[in-house]
Amino acid sequence: MRRAFIFLIFLSFLGFTKEIDPESKLVIDRGLNEVKENCIVCHTGRFITINGGDRKFWNTKIKVMQKAFGLWELDKKTKDLILDYLSKNYYKGWNKKKTKNKERSLKLKLNLQ
Ligand code: HEC
Repeated sequence: MRRAFIFLIFLSFLGFTKEIDPESKLVIDRGLNEVKENCIVCHTGRFITINGGDRKFWNTKIKVMQKAFGLWELDKKTKDLILDYLSKNYYKGWNKKKTKNKERSLKLKLNLQ
């Protein structure tokens, strides 16, 4: 137990563990503010943390948000920051099993299949 703890501290020094923002429960990184202002105003960050994908994946999600749920237009700079943030911290497979199920259920919901 103590060994594992020391190992964790070691990892965090190396930058392997990420700091989590207590308010949004999302990883602290460049772009988090934009995500907070534009994404987690309607829902919690959980929708983000159970997903994962590359820029294209997140770009599609933003489009879905805009088409189906009333997300406003984002200017290019904000959108880029959000996409950088999401594809860097919530990439495909970072949380594999859950992503797949959630994907399927949203596709069914929106009749995208
Ligand atoms: C205007 C309100 C609104 C905003 C702003 C918004 N969303 Fe959503 N979002 C929703 C709603 C409504 C749902 C569906 C909730 C449900 O399924 O019950 C949702 C669901 C989601 C989901 C889960 C469904 C899926 O596709 O897997 C993700 C991921 C998501 N939002 C990401 C984002 C991101 C990223 C942003 C910022 C760019 C954002 N949302 C901004 C309203 C919003």
